[in-house]
Formats: sequence, C-alpha cells, structure tokens
Amino acid sequence: MIKQAIIPLAGLGTRLLPLTSVFAKELLPINGKPGIEYILDECIEAGIKEIVFIISKKKEMIKNYFNNDKFYKDIIKKKKDPRIIKEYKKILKYKKIIKFVYQNKPLGTGDAVLKTKNYIKDKYFLMLLPDDLIIKYNCSKSMIDVHKRYNSSVMASMTVNKKTISRWGVYKLIKKLDKKNFLINDVIEKPSLNKAPSNKAVIGRYILPKKIFSKLQKLTPGKGGEIHITDAIQLLINENEKFIAHNFSGKYLDCGSMQGYIKSNFEISKL
Ligand code: G1P
Repeated sequence: MIKQAIIPLAGLGTRLLPLTSVFAKELLPINGKPGIEYILDECIEAGIKEIVFIISKKKEMIKNYFNNDKFYKDIIKKKKDPRIIKEYKKILKYKKIIKFVYQNKPLGTGDAVLKTKNYIKDKYFLMLLPDDLIIKYNCSKSMIDVHKRYNSSVMASMTVNKKTISRWGVYKLIKKLDKKNFLINDVIEKPSLNKAPSNKAVIGRYILPKKIFSKLQKLTPGKGGEIHITDAIQLLINENEKFIAHNFSGKYLDCGSMQGYIKSNFEISKL
C-alpha cells in the first residue's frame, strides 16, 4: 500500500512574480481555497496517511499556515464564529498528517526528493508537484490502483503540443499495457524538439520506489544546473525497473504560471 506522499514546495515561483516575491504560490487562493489544499485533499482521498512537505526558509509561510494554533484559539475564544471553528478544524486535520523538511538551496526536484530519504518507510511513495492540479478525477487514486495492478512505478502522463515540448519531461513508450497505461523505456527532461522521443509528457504525479534515493545521491546536476527526478528515473529504467506512464482522466491545470493560475480559478469555479 502507498501510505506516504511528498510534496516539493521550496520552488521560487519565478513564473508568478511579482506575487511570489513575498508570497508562497502554493497558498494563493484558487476559487477561494489555497492551491495546496486541493493537493492535500487529493492525497487524503487516495488513502495517504502521511505527507512530507519540502519547504525552504523563504517558504516558512507554508509551515505557519498549518501551525497557527494560538492565533485560532484566541480568536475562537473571543468570537464563537462557526465558520472560523470549521476552518480551524480543517487546518488541524491537515496538520496532523504533515511533516516538514528543508531544502534551502533551489537545486531541483531530485534534490528536494532526496531531503525526504529518512522519512520514507515503505517500498514505494507518492510525489505530487503542487503546480499541477488535476481536477474532476483523483489522479493519485487511479495511479495507486495502477501500481497495485502492475506492481510498478507510475507517472502521470499527457499528450502535449510539440511547440511546448521543451517545457516537459518527455518519455518514449515501448509497450501498451491497456487503454491508459504504457510501459516506458526513456525519459528526458525538457528536450529540444529534435531530441524529444515523443510528444508525451510527464505530469506532476509520481509513484516512486525507495531505491530512487541511491540514484539521486549519485546524480550530478543536469539541465539548468538542477538535479532532476527524471534523470534518476532513467537510471532506474536502465536497471530494468518497471515504469508505467498513466494517461490520467480529468483535467490538467498548470497553476504555476499567471495565465494558468487565472484559468485554474475559472475552471474550478465552474465545478
Ligand atoms: C517538472 C518536471 C517535468 C514535468 C513537469 C510537469 O518540471 O521536471 O519533468 O514534465 O514538472 O509539470 P517543472 O514544472 O518543475 O519545470
């Protein structure tokens, strides 16, 4: 069973500047609710019992959001407002399952994952990238089902426009397992169009094996001077670890850019 999830939250959020010069993008409200709460709800509904947040000193606002007990208790004592009580209870529910670790240098997603090494107990864990919202369908839940069915690592995937190929991790599939699941044998981080093995991109949901930590420890910085999870996945594939690309149902929203963030608000308000 997959019981633990990790969420890298130390990213600088440059695509959302100037907002992110003082604010954590994951707390920006999407239709009135911080983006990170959609991700947490997806995890809880998928049966996750513990979530490790990877934050940085600059992103301590996120930790404070979940650890503001005295503030709530004082207000609730003065005003017995049922709405505030309900919100506080919700925060407490999240707080109970969140742990915090730090990544103080923005050295990439792979480096962020490595910070959770001492927290992961089981053979596999889930990772969610908070910029990627998937609505109308619980992507984590269906990936956990795929993991159970094929006993393998899984990544969410989607066909993308070739013009945007250098924005994604791109993979090559070798075998169709069923309508939505494909075995892959190559994955490249942000390739140029002529180096891209397909127009199939990895989206920010991964079921990864604990073994990945030993690969991450050996990696040197790749594209853009960062340690990429994609490069560690390729090393595992080279050693015959099974990785499945799962074409998820539901709608993908990129809330890490301003245009995508505005669209996310619009799409979620229609639900
Ligand atoms: C990350 C991953 C990339 C993946 C993308 C999905 O990129 O490195 O492989 O395709 O998320 O959103 P980032 O968005 O951090 O540039």
